[in-house]
Amino acid sequence: MSPIIEIKELTKRFNQRIAVNNINFNIDGGEIFGLVGPNGAGKTTTMRMLVTLLKPDHGEIYVGGHSIRRKPDDVRRQIGFMPDSFGVYGDMTVQEYLDFFGACYKIHPQQRAHLITDLLDLVDLGHRRDDMVDTLSTGLKQRLGLARVLIHDPSILVLDEPASGLDPRARVEIRELLLEVARLGKTILFSSHILADVGELCTRVGIIEEGKLVALGTLQQLSQHVMPHRQLHIGLLDRKEEAQIMLQSMPGVSEVRAVDDASRASLEVDFIGEDEAIHQLLAKLLAQGFPVIHFSEESKNLEEVFMRTTKGIVS
Ligand SMILES: Nc1ncnc2c1ncn2[C@@H]1O[C@H](COP(=O)(O)OP(=O)(O)OP(=O)(O)O)[C@@H](O)[C@H]1O
Ligand SMILES: [Mg+2]
Repeated sequence: MSPIIEIKELTKRFNQRIAVNNINFNIDGGEIFGLVGPNGAGKTTTMRMLVTLLKPDHGEIYVGGHSIRRKPDDVRRQIGFMPDSFGVYGDMTVQEYLDFFGACYKIHPQQRAHLITDLLDLVDLGHRRDDMVDTLSTGLKQRLGLARVLIHDPSILVLDEPASGLDPRARVEIRELLLEVARLGKTILFSSHILADVGELCTRVGIIEEGKLVALGTLQQLSQHVMPHRQLHIGLLDRKEEAQIMLQSMPGVSEVRAVDDASRASLEVDFIGEDEAIHQLLAKLLAQGFPVIHFSEESKNLEEVFMRTTKGIVS
């Protein structure tokens, strides 16, 4: 299966300033792909080229096999784009707003009515359909924005910072909604500063800085690449000192620390290696009869990967 989006040597300058610098990556159908990067990194510029609003200086993007340069209409048909600001259609009702965009896509009025009901159901805005768009909260406006970009049934959604400015509850709701949209079979590319959202949602993440793609992969791949070191937590009923000595002699283990916890004995293990080696470690503990009651790996978060991948990192 060929990728649904192919980005090749994508480059864009504004005057002398290079905003996107030779970016290459593909996105497969059905992925939820997160584009992360500091302010001014080139996320919006990349997305605007993908959705045919901006022409690259160099390079190409293929969407479903169609070139953004040669077949922009075919590209647009496949994409629903939600920019980072809402636009100025506040003085109409929710229903009129969606009807307007449906008409832009030349959807038949009768079909539009059904479609709007379905979309309002999906984004859980049915109860606000006769309210003015202006009166919606930021979170509800984002949900309406999502309904709007779905109106022509695109296979790909491109969302520029869909969670920005939202309170924690609205952020969780948008996250759930994106998962639901992905379950409908859509491919999603979105940008965000909120790393926790990206980590929880995405099949893969691209980290972009000063116009360059500095990291690409699943969160786990990025974590392992940037931080090969893993940390294990092992809880024991007793024989903590003995276990500490044994673990220190195991391959891949660099340090074992005893953690003072009044309720039970536990050890923190710094470790470099694959899952198989972790299994060996646990197997040996059990084979030697250590009373293990807890064994887990500290999860790495994207925030840490991001801080280490982007500039300012010494190690
Ligand atoms: N129309 C424009 N004219 C001139 N410079 C621009 C234009 N659009 C973007 N830039 C510059 O290109 C660079 C990349 O901007 P872009 O908006 O793509 O970054 P971003 O990653 O989306 O940032 P943010 O997280 O702040 O949204 C920045 O230096 C920006 O100032
Ligand atoms: Mg931006």
